[in-house]
Amino acid sequence: MSADALDGRDHLLNIQNLHISFFTPAGEVKAVNGVSYTLRKGEVLGIVGESGSGKSVSVTALMKLLAYPGRVVDGSIWFDGKDILVQPSREMQKIRGKDISMIFQDPMTSLNPVYTIGNQLIETIRRHSAMSNSAARQRGIEMLSLVGINNPARRMRQYPHALSGGMRQRVMIAMALSCSPKLLIADEPTTSLDVTIQAQILALMKKMRQETGTAIMLITHDLGIVTELCDRVMIMYAGKIVESGSVEDIYYRTSHPYTKGLLDCLPQNSEERAPLRPIEGNPVDLLDLPKGCGFASRCDKCMKICLRETPPDFLVGDGHVSSCWLHTVQNGQDGRGNHHGNG
Ligand SMILES: Nc1ncnc2c1ncn2[C@@H]1O[C@H](COP(=O)(O)OP(=O)(O)OP(=O)(O)O)[C@@H](O)[C@H]1O
Ligand SMILES: [Mg+2]
Repeated sequence: MSADALDGRDHLLNIQNLHISFFTPAGEVKAVNGVSYTLRKGEVLGIVGESGSGKSVSVTALMKLLAYPGRVVDGSIWFDGKDILVQPSREMQKIRGKDISMIFQDPMTSLNPVYTIGNQLIETIRRHSAMSNSAARQRGIEMLSLVGINNPARRMRQYPHALSGGMRQRVMIAMALSCSPKLLIADEPTTSLDVTIQAQILALMKKMRQETGTAIMLITHDLGIVTELCDRVMIMYAGKIVESGSVEDIYYRTSHPYTKGLLDCLPQNSEERAPLRPIEGNPVDLLDLPKGCGFASRCDKCMKICLRETPPDFLVGDGHVSSCWLHTVQNGQDGRGNHHGNG
């Protein structure tokens, strides 16, 4: 068995060269452009990048929930030994919810307005376990109180419209956690919640990870949350991973100019939680990707080669990868062939 295959055994998720496009009347919107990474069992991976960088699209592809007219045009997605892209929809339904749970950016799109919270929670729990109705009901009540919902038994009888946005988000989180999935994908899970509830939810995710070994992919604009929860971070720009590494690599040994830009945009007071301020300049046109590096037109370190050739992934430290030509200038090294994995 090759070293790669041996390595692959403890990878829960292995994504290679993923390309996703939306085929719109205006043309092909290239939302994800060659993303490769791996995730180990129990690992917590943060995905950070400005709006439109392809964070949500790349994770919805994992669940095979890409919206029309979006399509995976190239690459592979292996999860827990299964080739996701060839799974029939019945198989995917089993995987979703039981093995992979997702907390969506907008909770209202994923709660059904015509069923009570209790019905939806109980159904989710029973779909993936052999619990009786009353045991599932008890588990549902426990989950609601775990995510900080007061009077959970009464909430079980209510419909989604009777709950505030923050409370609906917590119901979604309770649902996603109720089946102890192998992978939890959380897309901006706490953005709409107030700081106290945010802290509660994060503590809950941490606890769940310790107790059940669930791997977590956390999409966020909030670099504060990343330091609190993540083992590893990927920075996305224009549908590519431009830098990845440990939290320390990203904060203290920052390599890519885009990551530097993101960190410079953080509020001065590190205690303060605020969304990222945008970096100057306009994001690239995904309908018409430029030659070379996607960030070149906004980069203050831009060189001639950046406008001509796409930078490869350079290994800049142990498990720390950066896709920027500056690395060759600084080190005279050619790192082609690396990828944003973890071994
Ligand atoms: N239904 C669609 N039709 C056409 N293009 C789309 C569609 N959905 C997404 N896109 C394109 O894919 C790109 C990536 O979208 P995505 O939702 O992944 O961004 P994101 O990084 O999650 O941003 P945000 O932080 O705002 O959630 C967008 O810039 C958009 O151009
Ligand atoms: Mg998104």
